[in-house]
Amino acid sequence: MKNLIQMLVVLSLLLIITPEVLADLPPAFEGRKLYVSHCQLCHAVDGKGDGPLAKAMQIEADDLTTIVRSGSDNTLINIITGKGRHASTHRISPSMPKWEDVFSEHQIKAVVAYLRFLSSSKHDLIGDPEIGLRLYQKYCAICHGAEGDGKGVMTELLRIKPIDHTNPYKTDKLDNNELASSILDGRGKFMPAFRGILNQGEVDGLVSYIRLLYQIWGQLEDGGLVILMRQPTAKMDEEYGNSLLRDPSCKSKENLSEKGKMKAVSIGEQFKSRGVPIGSVLASPDCLAKETAKTAFGQVEPVDFLSSMKTLPEQQADSYTTQLERRIGSYSGKGNLVLVTHELNINAISFQTLEEGYFLVLNPMGKNEFEEIGIYRLDK
Ligand code: HEC
Ligand code: HEC
Repeated sequence: MKNLIQMLVVLSLLLIITPEVLADLPPAFEGRKLYVSHCQLCHAVDGKGDGPLAKAMQIEADDLTTIVRSGSDNTLINIITGKGRHASTHRISPSMPKWEDVFSEHQIKAVVAYLRFLSSSKHDLIGDPEIGLRLYQKYCAICHGAEGDGKGVMTELLRIKPIDHTNPYKTDKLDNNELASSILDGRGKFMPAFRGILNQGEVDGLVSYIRLLYQIWGQLEDGGLVILMRQPTAKMDEEYGNSLLRDPSCKSKENLSEKGKMKAVSIGEQFKSRGVPIGSVLASPDCLAKETAKTAFGQVEPVDFLSSMKTLPEQQADSYTTQLERRIGSYSGKGNLVLVTHELNINAISFQTLEEGYFLVLNPMGKNEFEEIGIYRLDK
């Protein structure tokens, strides 16, 4: 086994993967460092407030683990930078510093990712994730992928897929001891045992690093949110869009291409594999939208107000937007509501521009009100 591992190490060194070339560090990993240096003194290690500085200053730093759960990325970014605090739903004491000039935009996002991790992970970070990062790239990335999503060079070759370490739905089910024992003793046919190669501190570091690979998809597991997507590609939109719009039966023309179908299947699989519950699925009557939804989620209800607004008279377009807002704001349900529509329709209710492969997550707040939780990315 040691030989195999040595071979893997050599291979992984040959194959690009060292920490220096990992283009983007996992956001929560980066955010943790900033949290430790800039926030922890007031908000405490676990984010629950009453850190030593807060005590010394006799201020009450909020329990971030509860606030963060209900705040959208934008709200949190505004609060942390101080830039749009006045727009926040409540007044925030000036003893919470404004970090606008301290952090780059990238760093603020990393901090938010770490706050999301703090507020949702059930497991403590027992080891040093810096050690974990180094070892993960050296020993694990070749199979688990540099980003931890299970798409490593070796596993692609073997055509096996280890668990996706970026998926909190999967990793949260395993406690720290379970992760550690998989690393020490191996698992199944292809996960090697690292006992004798890595010491306990190193394994703990790896376990902590795996926790920080966390990505925010996890939030969707609880349901009750609205997922807004646009049609598969802008190019297809142009090719087929308008003519099919006038053909609600979708029978007379070629509809979704093979490539489009495969994409749709993969969308559905990604939601499923991450344990994201889907309630109802509504789509524009446009064939591409309808078929994408049906192929991805196995169900679809076409509704007029999701039709492309491109060619509509203004009044009609406004009415569709109003209906869309009401549908989102008043949604409540166990699963998430999926809406498949067009770029213009999404622009009309949000400043966000959704590129292909991204989707917008909204939190309904009653009537026609909702807030943006964030833009998530589907795997390529
Ligand atoms: C000097 C102490 C101090 C430091 C350092 C500090 N905070 Fe705060 N923070 C506070 C206090 C006090 C509040 C409570 C403000 C209120 O409730 O009006 C707060 C509130 C917050 C809130 C919630 C605001 C709300 O009520 O919705 C967030 C989010 C937050 N801090 C994030 C951070 C982050 C991220 C950092 C590090 C980059 C940080 N804080 C550093 C003192 C601090
Ligand atoms: C030779 C390929 C390979 C290497 C190298 C490798 N793994 Fe794995 N790993 C796998 C496979 C395949 C599985 C799935 C095993 C199964 O469940 O049958 C797995 C499973 C795991 C699991 C268990 C998850 C679960 O389902 O319980 C953990 C944790 C893990 N690996 C961590 C690591 C760490 C940390 C490293 C680096 C020190 C590493 N692996 C190196 C292939 C590899």
